[in-house]
Amino acid sequence: MVFCRRYANPIGWRVLPSVTPMTIAVTSIASALFCAPARAADAVRGETLYQGCEDCHSIDKNDVGPMHRGVVGRVAGTIAGYAYSPALKASKLVWTESNLDKWLTNPQDLVPGTKMFFKIDNPQDRADIIEFLKGRAK
Ligand code: HEC
Repeated sequence: MVFCRRYANPIGWRVLPSVTPMTIAVTSIASALFCAPARAADAVRGETLYQGCEDCHSIDKNDVGPMHRGVVGRVAGTIAGYAYSPALKASKLVWTESNLDKWLTNPQDLVPGTKMFFKIDNPQDRADIIEFLKGRAK
């Protein structure tokens, strides 16, 4: 939003003709209203989006892909009884939220040679899915 870029940028203040406490108050209220940061991750929405993963995954059973319960914080490629690609097994990655975000952006970029080919382009969708997975820790 143009408004946000102009007024949220501290340098922008210098070009304002006269910055009085009143203009500061008005513009900060306005920025609070119009420039709210991206909303927090939403596990409920994530659960719905997770249906897209269920072609291959479930929380409690290995399928085309490994089961997901407790995946956040786990070392990649360590679910017993699932035949991982050599690439993922050798990756030594830990599924932190940030690695999961990279993985869902493009698994092939994070772990070349993995056998997961599925991407989520929308950052909010990725955050919501990860939030849902966090809630399936136990
Ligand atoms: C078309 C099938 C398919 C879809 C859809 C899919 N995956 Fe996967 N996923 C796989 C396969 C296959 C693997 C195993 C990759 C390997 O061994 O290289 C995998 C592995 C993973 C892993 C690594 C788990 C571990 O134990 O190390 C995570 C995390 C993951 N997928 C998350 C997701 C999420 C979240 C979604 C939905 C947004 C999703 N996947 C959608 C096939 C899929």
